[in-house]
Amino acid sequence: MGERSDPGEEEADTMPIGDGDEDFVDSLAGETAFVNPMEVEFARLLDFYHIPWLYEPTSFALNWSGDQVSEMFTPDFYLPDQDLYVELTTMRQRLVTRKHRKLRRLRDLYPTINVRLLYNRDYHQLLAAYGYGAVEIASLREEDIERILVSRDELAARVAQLGEQISRDYAGRPVVLIGVLKGVTFFLADLARAITSAVAIDFLALARPARGGSERAVRIVKDLDRDIAGMHVILVEDVVNTGLTLDFLLKALRARGPATLTVCTLLDKAEQRIVPVPLDYTGFVIPDEFVVGYGLDYRELHRNLPFLAILKRQVYTTPPLVTATALPLPFAES
Ligand code: IMP
Ligand code: MG
Repeated sequence: MGERSDPGEEEADTMPIGDGDEDFVDSLAGETAFVNPMEVEFARLLDFYHIPWLYEPTSFALNWSGDQVSEMFTPDFYLPDQDLYVELTTMRQRLVTRKHRKLRRLRDLYPTINVRLLYNRDYHQLLAAYGYGAVEIASLREEDIERILVSRDELAARVAQLGEQISRDYAGRPVVLIGVLKGVTFFLADLARAITSAVAIDFLALARPARGGSERAVRIVKDLDRDIAGMHVILVEDVVNTGLTLDFLLKALRARGPATLTVCTLLDKAEQRIVPVPLDYTGFVIPDEFVVGYGLDYRELHRNLPFLAILKRQVYTTPPLVTATALPLPFAES
């Protein structure tokens, strides 16, 4: 006990019972003793969105020799509101097999617990979507693009279908389309023109989490122009990833008493979900890749591409502006 049962792994996720911190840890990302920078960043992100979390609160027995526990597993985070354990791994994909085996064993032995594995690539995507803060509009390079995911024609066809569906569902009822700046603007402009019922359009903007940025918590930095009480509201999103943004927005908008509130998203990265959110209209369910174009950006770049493209992974995993001060701990890559 107390020794790693997996000597080939860099992460000490196997530890004896009682080693985990039992205290409730909320908004303490700066004070918890994390093992790697991915954990620090993840905790900051959860704090930003007011998602309560506990760091390594529970150890699960995975194996026994006789009546002695011979192997334990301690997931990194527990999110009580979601009843979800999250295990982060900085290991490369091909080294994750052993961790997968542990998770499978955990799920077999404790079938009622929900657990999610977040990989290195998920972490880089989170940083690409939230973390960098700095804007870099100087170098639009074609070689940064891996491949086209959804063509201009495919986008147009799907947006037309969504418009028809919404027009049917809201026949005779005026709707307010609410867009979250800025990524959604291209989609919202096309969607609004595909809807035949009366629409009003409004926008809001959120403070975004950024490394070393001044924003400590999510908040609305540009609010709606109009009151939505009693209105039929469709919240229009570009992409739902972890669900953190949408979860916050739905709570904020529901509190204003709309008659109805539904969600239309162009893209759903369903595999990336951390917080469950209801989606009423979805354009495309897309794979776990970072996409740009048709309004979506990487550090403000690529929004004006007329199609959706997958950004080359190396572009966002080796960003040029990450400084030593922004990243206090060394990367544990494998
Ligand atoms: P969530 O809060 O993780 O669901 O992410 C939602 C926001 O992150 C979106 O509104 C985007 O601004 C950004 N985002 C997430 N994934 C991508 C992507 O693949 N490309 C560009 N932006 C993204
Ligand atoms: Mg963005």
